Parts: sequence; C-alpha cells; structure tokens
Amino acid sequence: MKEILKKLNQKRSQAVIGGGEKRKESQHKKGKLTARERIEVLLDEGTFEEWDMFVEHRCSEFEMEQQKIPGDGVVTGYGTINGRLTFVFSQDFTVFGGSLSESHAEKISKIMDKALQVGAPVIGLNDSGGARIQEGVASLAGYAEVFQRNVLSSGVIPQISVIMGPCAGGAVYSPAMTDFIFMVKDTSYMFVTGPDVLKTVTHEEVSHEELGGATTHTKTSGVADLSFENDVEALYQLRRFMGFLPSSNKEMPPTRKSEDPADRIEYSLDTLIPDNPNKPYDMKELITKVVDDRDFFETQPDYAANIITGFARMTGSPVGIVANQPMVLAGCLDNNSSRKAARFVRFCDCFNIPILTFVDVPGFLPGTSQEFNGIIKHGAKLLFAFAEATVPKITVITRKAYGGAYDVMSSKHLRGDVNYAWPQAEIAVMGPKGAVEIIFRGEIGDKKKMDQKAEEYRERLANPFIAGSRGFIDDVIMPNTTRKRICRSLEMLKNKKLTNPWKKHDNIPL
Ligand code: HXC
Repeated sequence: MKEILKKLNQKRSQAVIGGGEKRKESQHKKGKLTARERIEVLLDEGTFEEWDMFVEHRCSEFEMEQQKIPGDGVVTGYGTINGRLTFVFSQDFTVFGGSLSESHAEKISKIMDKALQVGAPVIGLNDSGGARIQEGVASLAGYAEVFQRNVLSSGVIPQISVIMGPCAGGAVYSPAMTDFIFMVKDTSYMFVTGPDVLKTVTHEEVSHEELGGATTHTKTSGVADLSFENDVEALYQLRRFMGFLPSSNKEMPPTRKSEDPADRIEYSLDTLIPDNPNKPYDMKELITKVVDDRDFFETQPDYAANIITGFARMTGSPVGIVANQPMVLAGCLDNNSSRKAARFVRFCDCFNIPILTFVDVPGFLPGTSQEFNGIIKHGAKLLFAFAEATVPKITVITRKAYGGAYDVMSSKHLRGDVNYAWPQAEIAVMGPKGAVEIIFRGEIGDKKKMDQKAEEYRERLANPFIAGSRGFIDDVIMPNTTRKRICRSLEMLKNKKLTNPWKKHDNIPL
C-alpha cells in the first residue's frame, strides 16, 4: 500500500510539474500563466476536480516512448463558477508545446461528452502548438473527434474558447465552432496558415500579431469577440460573462437580485435624440440607462460597431441586446453588422435569453463593395435570425426605421412580441429627402419646394402613428418610461411558448 501511495504522489507531482520549472518560467516570462494557474483563476476556489491526470500518450515514434508526462499536455475536469457547474480544459504549453496527441484529444472529448450529458458549459483554454507532429494522423483524428463534439454540443450547452497562446492550422476550427472567443493581447494568435508559409506562397511579410493577434480578430476579421490585456483579466471577465448564460438549452438563464427599481424613470432619455434627425447620438447611453445598474457586457465592441450586441439584466434576468449605433455609419446595416447581430440573436434564441432590440436604422448601406460582398445573403441572415427566434422579443424604435431594415430589426411582422416607438420615430419606406427626390423627380431643382415636400412627407408618413394605426407598433412611449415598459413586457412574456414547425434544421443563408 505504501508503495502505491508513494507512486501515486510521484505521478501527481510529475503531472503538476508538467514540462518542468524551466518551461514554466519561460511561460511566465512571456506574461502567460500556466494551465493550472489559469484554472485556479477561472474556477471558484477549491472546486476543481481533475480527471485523467495519469493519461499518457501512446506514441512510440521519434523516441517518444521515452518522453511521457502524466496528463499529456492538457488539464481537464470540472468545477464551479459562482457556484455553477462548468467543465474546463486547459492546454499546458510546457508539455510538448500543448500540442494535441490522440490521448490529449481523448481527455478533451471525455469532458465534452460529460458536459453534454449533464447539461453544463465547456470552457476551453487554448495554448497549443497544434497537432502533435510525432503522432501524425492519430492527432488529426483527435482534432476531428473534438470538432464533432463541438457541433453536437452547439445550441445545447454554451461553449466558450479563450485563446491564450498559439492556435494555428486546423486547430482554429474548434474555437471557431464555439459560441464565443476571447483572446489575450500580445500573447495569443489564431490563423489557418502562419507567416512563414505566407512568405513562401504569397510573398507577404506579416508578423504573428498582425496576421492573427487579438487586435486583428476583434477589429478586422470579427473571428474573436473580445480581447484582454492579460490572462487574469480575460479569466475574470469570463467569470462575469458566464453569469449571463444558462447552463444548457433546457434551462433559463440565471437570475440575480437587483436593487434597481423596475419602474425607474430616466428623464434624461427624453432629450437623448437630437432635434436634427441627421445628428448622431450614442445608443450605448440609452442601453446603460435602461438596464439594471448600468451593467452592460458588450460583445464584439470593436467589430462592425454600427450595431451593438451584448448582455445585460432587467430586474435581475439576463437579456440579449441588439441596437443600431447612429454614431457609426449612421447606424446602417451592412455585411459585417448583419452577420455579427445574426449570430448573436441565434445564440440568445438557443439559450432562452430574451432579446431587446433598439432600432435607429436608415437602411442598408449602399455601395458596390456591399453588393459585391453579398449584402443580399448577409442581410438575410439577420432577417432570418430574428424571424426564427422564439424567445421573448421586445423592440423599441427610437428614431429611424426605414425600408427593409425596418422589417429586419425585430419588427412586429417577424413575431416581435412587444413593439414600441418613441415619439420621434420615423417609420417609412425611406427618409423624407430620398422619398421626395423620387416622387417629385421633375422638380428636383426647386430646393424650396423640395424642402417643403420633404417636411410634408415627414409629417404625413415619417412618424410612428401610421404604424401605430395598423397595430404594427403596440404603443408610442415616452423615452423616460422605456425601462418600466420593457420590464413589464418581460414579466408578461415570462411564460411565452412558441415553437417553429418541425424540421431537421433550417437552411439559414450562410
Ligand atoms: C510537438 C511541439 C509542437 C507540435 C511545439 N512543440 N509545437 N511538439 N508537436 N505541434 C514543442 C517544441 O518542440 C518545444 O519542445 C515546445 O513545444 C515549445 O515550442 P517552441 O518552438 O520552443 O516554442 P515557441 O518558440 O514559443 O514557438 C511556439 C510555436 C512553435 C510557434 C507553436 O513551437 C511551432 O511553430 N510549432 C509547430 C506548429 C505547427 O506547425 N503545428 C502543426 C500545425 S498543423 P521542447 O522540448 O523544446 O520544449 C495543425 C493541424 C491541425 O495543427 C489539424 C486539425 C484538423
């Protein structure tokens, strides 16, 4: 017995040491935590239950049988975040560069299977040199096993990836299929083909950071949702983020007590909209003034900023927020913003999170670049996402709701449950100026007359009352009452039941 215990302790300490002190030091020197330190920061203290600490690789090529480290480059198990069960895998860069062997993949697959069975989220902390080169196809098979599980878990349990080191080649596709990707500035990167290959094939010279760093993916490609200064900040924010999500699609998102009164009146909202309809204002001001305790967790803040997406709470219950941002491209919908918001809406719908939509949209962005890049299909994604969503949907038109974009932005016609408009709302086929230039094309040179016609158009058609008279708007509300009206609506919709016709799955215009 004593011998066994000695061996057990030996194995455990070997696993904990990972690739050794020197490699651990080098990890710290890069500003990175180790795999185990990351788990400690992420989970509630003392809750981590580790699995498969004794798993070793089975490779005998390239003298690998002489290099075995218990755990094989990934720490897996479960614990809690603010008391809620969460599965986690954390790749250990100190062990074979965190590279993925067949055994390493089996460990990840094991926790993914269990998370799916018990209905709890999976968080992946990625820090890996990719496929374990010595293992060849066995490693590729391991990746595919993980990919398959990503797909089966999609829409059933939340899956979150944090990129905390290299993530290259086909390895990027597992995070890509998870719901949200967080990255750490300067120490993480993601790309399918790295700078060295690029140099040879396309003669482009680009750094790791430029090609696939956190800034690139949160600003340019939109692959990642958020970037953080360091590991600790990323993990702390992830803990906060998880508080908005249910554990699975069978649960409602977690509620928490809020001291913020549901009937709080916010008079400053009455003057938020400038008198000049072409002047922008900050939609984020509206969001923070309406939600509980001004607490808004924005996703993809640096990408397609003409639409805002993120999570907040109303009387303690999480909501997903989608809002046009008049400060960027006048709030127009374009390719990137349509895709960004569509994916967000679908996430909320998968996980029973009601959607609040704030609308101030002059239409789809015109231009060859938009058309050539497929605004027809991309715009349709957002339309499709809102239309198929069965969660409670509350829409507030604050100012412009023009043309097709009016329909798209969670309109009554797409089964919006409660649709409000502020008194300044202009709901029409297009803006007054554009409209009169078409209707009165022959008189376009007569500026005075055109201005007068535009004013007439605004008074007759560009207001909330025509939509109101058809029941497309449930009420025209004072801006200061917005929070109160939304809270009441959410309370009314608490037990909403709506199902779509049976199908294998839909065919969203990808
Ligand atoms: C085995 C690997 C490894 C790998 C790194 N290591 N990547 N071992 N398989 N893929 C080992 C190194 O040998 C080294 O071991 C240790 O990890 C740390 O690596 P360094 O190179 O010293 O670290 P660093 O300078 O920080 O560079 C990190 C790196 C580089 C940029 C990730 O290691 C690298 O380019 N690795 C190869 C990446 C790669 O081509 N992977 C395959 C991609 S294709 P020692 O013992 O010296 O500490 C792929 C396909 C997936 O992944 C397909 C899925 C469908």
